[in-house]
Amino acid sequence: MAKMEVKSSLLDNMIGVGDMVLLEPLNEETFIDNLKKRFDHNEIYTYIGSVVISVNPYRSLPIYSPEKVEDYRNRNFYELSPHIFALSDEAYRSLRDQDKDQCILITGESGAGKTEASKLVMSYVAAVCGKGAEVNEVKEQLLQSNPVLEAFGNAKTVRNDNSSRFGKYMDIEFDFKGDPLGGVISNYLLEKSRVVKQPRGERNFHVFYQLLSGASEELLHKLKLERDFSRYNYLSLDSAKVNGVDDAANFRTVRNAMQIVGFMDHETEAVLEVVAAVLKLGNIEFKPESRMNGLDESKIKDKNELKEICELTSIDQLVLERAFSFRTVEAKQEKVSTTLNVAQAYYARDALAKNLYSRLFSWLVNRINESIKAQTKVRKKVMGVLDIYGFEIFENADNSFEQFIINYCNEKLQQIFIELTLKEEQEEYIREDIEWTHIDYFNNAIICDLIENNTNGILAMLDEECLRPGTVTDDTFLEKLNQVCATHQHFESRMSKCSRFLNDTTLPHSCFRIQHYAGKVLYQVEGFVDKNNDLLYRDLSQAMWKAGHGLIKSLFPEGNPAKVNLKRPPTAGSQFKASVATLMKNLQTKNPNYIRCIKPNDKKAAHIFNESLVCHQIRYLGLLENVRVRRAGYAFRQAYEPCLERYKMLCKQTWPHWKGPARSGVEILFNELEIPTEEYSFGRSKIFIRNPRTLFQLEDLRKQRLEDLATLIQKIYRGWKCRTHFLLMKKSQVVIAAWCRRYAQQKRYQQIKSSALVVQSYIRGWKARKLLRELKHQKRCKEAVTTIAAYWHGTQARRELKRLKEEARRKHAVAVIWAYWLGLKVRREYRKFFRANAGKKIYEFTLQRIVQKYFLEMKNKMPSLSPIDKNWPSRPYLFLDSTHKELKRIFHLWRCKKYRDQFTDQQKLIYEEKLEASELFKDKKALYPSSVGQPFQGAYLEINKNPKYKKLKDAIEEKIIIAEVVNKINRANGKSTSRIFLLTNNNLLLADQKSGQIKSEVPLVDVTKVSMSSQNDGFFAVHLKEGSEAASKGDFLFSSDHLIEMATKLYRTTLSQTNQKLNIEISDEFLVQFRQDKVCVKFIQGSQKNGSVPTCKRKNNRLLEVAVP
Ligand SMILES: Nc1ncnc2c1ncn2[C@@H]1O[C@H](COP(=O)(O)OP(=O)(O)OP(=O)(O)O)[C@@H](O)[C@H]1O
Ligand SMILES: [Mg+2]
Repeated sequence: MAKMEVKSSLLDNMIGVGDMVLLEPLNEETFIDNLKKRFDHNEIYTYIGSVVISVNPYRSLPIYSPEKVEDYRNRNFYELSPHIFALSDEAYRSLRDQDKDQCILITGESGAGKTEASKLVMSYVAAVCGKGAEVNEVKEQLLQSNPVLEAFGNAKTVRNDNSSRFGKYMDIEFDFKGDPLGGVISNYLLEKSRVVKQPRGERNFHVFYQLLSGASEELLHKLKLERDFSRYNYLSLDSAKVNGVDDAANFRTVRNAMQIVGFMDHETEAVLEVVAAVLKLGNIEFKPESRMNGLDESKIKDKNELKEICELTSIDQLVLERAFSFRTVEAKQEKVSTTLNVAQAYYARDALAKNLYSRLFSWLVNRINESIKAQTKVRKKVMGVLDIYGFEIFENADNSFEQFIINYCNEKLQQIFIELTLKEEQEEYIREDIEWTHIDYFNNAIICDLIENNTNGILAMLDEECLRPGTVTDDTFLEKLNQVCATHQHFESRMSKCSRFLNDTTLPHSCFRIQHYAGKVLYQVEGFVDKNNDLLYRDLSQAMWKAGHGLIKSLFPEGNPAKVNLKRPPTAGSQFKASVATLMKNLQTKNPNYIRCIKPNDKKAAHIFNESLVCHQIRYLGLLENVRVRRAGYAFRQAYEPCLERYKMLCKQTWPHWKGPARSGVEILFNELEIPTEEYSFGRSKIFIRNPRTLFQLEDLRKQRLEDLATLIQKIYRGWKCRTHFLLMKKSQVVIAAWCRRYAQQKRYQQIKSSALVVQSYIRGWKARKLLRELKHQKRCKEAVTTIAAYWHGTQARRELKRLKEEARRKHAVAVIWAYWLGLKVRREYRKFFRANAGKKIYEFTLQRIVQKYFLEMKNKMPSLSPIDKNWPSRPYLFLDSTHKELKRIFHLWRCKKYRDQFTDQQKLIYEEKLEASELFKDKKALYPSSVGQPFQGAYLEINKNPKYKKLKDAIEEKIIIAEVVNKINRANGKSTSRIFLLTNNNLLLADQKSGQIKSEVPLVDVTKVSMSSQNDGFFAVHLKEGSEAASKGDFLFSSDHLIEMATKLYRTTLSQTNQKLNIEISDEFLVQFRQDKVCVKFIQGSQKNGSVPTCKRKNNRLLEVAVP
């Protein structure tokens, strides 16, 4: 998606005003307030037209990121909030696209951020200009020149930990495409006095500390140095360490940068040797030595240091020593040598150190230039960056020659600013066809003239004084000034005979004051002459020239005797004036861009905005002047297109789209808004607005209108949003309904499915069972077949086995017969060889062995001791048959005896009874076998316990042997009635079952016989002795379930009581005596009439039939 182009403006989201030109009302107070307000909101940049004011934030802000670079790249100057990148971009684009050489002038007091600003400009340009290996190398070299120059030219001061102690102007050269080709650096006025002396709380140049901290032991040894700051007089100790600065690391950075810039190793070494020599010079000390002429002559105290310096620089020690003691003055081919006193010797030493260092610095700049200079001869476009001190005004008349020079330079820069700004303004008016009106402003040309005028300017006066023969002092110089400049409006002095200052106590006698455009500055005249002279004794420069050290030799060309120039070298003032003039000439050909740096506080601290300090800077930087000049004609101007774009919503005809040319759109817009015509002018491409007020009115209207438009947009947006929401809800509702239906159908389907499954499972079950039945049937058939087959095979096998056995038997018989036959044959043959009885003996022996074996085997094969065990081992030999049977019999009897021996008396009785029954009925009565397993209990009816039979019990005194209910067969009809049958030792009793009443009592001696059938029935007849009392009614016929027991017990009791055996007749037909008749009881088997119960029926007088099943 293409990124939407959003046209923004400086006027958007402004904090205070982004451009001071728009400040209403304009005065110092509002100016400072606006700066402060912006500073408090981290807006450190503010414009005055195209000038950027930069307030040092003293902390890193996130506004220099690559993204920011991209933001500002190719954007118009007023499009985004003020930024140094906007200025850099404007300068670079105008250089690249319009072929205009640019210069960026960065001014401000020490610590205001000039050097940082110059680096930001360079880094921005490096980021946006062309890319490629070669271009990148050039960029890298240009950027890396900074650390080298900073190491040698910067120092910690009370105002800035990294204060540039030189002015720097750098031309960056580009080709027609805008790619960097190289650069040229110019340096101005290195503060060389710092080499030998530093104010309190300040340091010497960084390089000395970096060398001592960062050099390896080996390098230090080579340079004859020690890693101890306190060893060197030229190094101030009270602030040798700076917070947050790592000198050792910086030393590595510097060496690395030197390498990138293109310094050869031997060059770097030579440079460090010079630095070491300067450091060691400070340690040379002098002592006075009286001479014959009464004057003191200085002598070096300890020559060791001198010796080392000479070794390091390859200077003849004697030559140098002499140069520190004598001074040779040449005039008109005459040489006069005078001795130096101690003070002069120290002066000479320091002058040498300062010169050595400052020349080294210039050499470094030249060497860097050599490396970074453009390699081609094609036409170049140039962007110059000037980082030079702004106005320096110290309080208490501490301003000296250096401040004077610096302020002069700033005065010149101001002039060029005024010239160029006005020129540009004028040019723009002409370009835009706007009527030019005169602008009233202060022109500082008059002050420049006061300083630089060749005949009566202050610098000319100073040079004149310095060159004048005779005694020259700072006071004579001041006197001269007083004479020449007394009438100048901007010169003030106590001694100028001008009545105005005679009583001005703020103006000391040894000072003069100049009214610079930025304010009044009081200069202390002391040191002006010396500093301007910048004298180095010829002996010293000659000694240096004689050095074997190539670099040092090249630094002092005037020491070459062949080129002795008796003319004095140019003074520092005139040198500076010349270089400023060159610089100005250079700048005048270029399009200027200004960055005015402001320091918000003296504490190097973030967030502190000291208003009085800022006020002071605003004054001497002439910023209000800047604004006034800028606003002289029209305060604000803008091209028609962006203007129409910004304000078109304020007029119906131009909103939302204007079809015609932008200018007529703006005209209609301004007419519609009824802006007074004197407030604006129409240029060719721009509209010019006279007062900021008008612009702000426009802005206010725009803001109001934007709010209305925002409401409108909001309204439409809300409507759209609600509609979208509604449509979405509707759509959702359809979706939800569909899902619900789907869910219901799904449920129904699942139900149907599960029912189908149930039905299916039943059918399957039924089918499976059917199949199972079939399979079972098949299996049974198969089993039957198998069984039949097995039986058949069994039969077959048995037949076969029988056949085989038969065969085997026959074979065996053949073999035996064959053996007997053979035996017979052999015996016949050998009989004659045996004695007559040998055969008998062998026979006996064999027999004996066989018997023995038989018994032994029998012992192991004995059956169990159970008397009913029928097992008995088979007979081994036929001839032992009878023995074997006898043995079986004996064994059986023995084990029976054993078994019997275990019986108790009661058991014996029971068994005797059982035995008796066996003897009586076994194999005679079919009922017998079923009685064997039944124990004989006798008293089945428990008369003793049943209270019903108490009477009965009482009536019987004897022991009851049998008490049982029997059926008594009626003699007349064969029907049966229940009776209690009791047997005692002597009697047989019958009693009524219900009442227990005794019906009959028969003494045992009257019982003659008991008859019963041979069958499986319980009928029996008890025959009584004829003629006895009991027999009057006839014999009894009973039926009982315990016939065998009762008959046995009756038999045994009778036997024991009467000593007679009771006759028991077992026959299927017997006679019983019923009164007078003899009736035949006949048992008929097989009648099934009454099931399994035998029935009895009287057939006639002579026959009673019992049907037995
Ligand atoms: N834009 C900035 N962002 C953050 N810190 C800054 C910025 N500008 C300056 N500083 C801080 O202020 C210090 C002083 O800045 P700088 O060295 O540029 O001052 P200067 O104007 O060059 O001073 P001098 O005239 O002494 O060389 C820097 O070391 C840095 O800590
Ligand atoms: Mg600086």
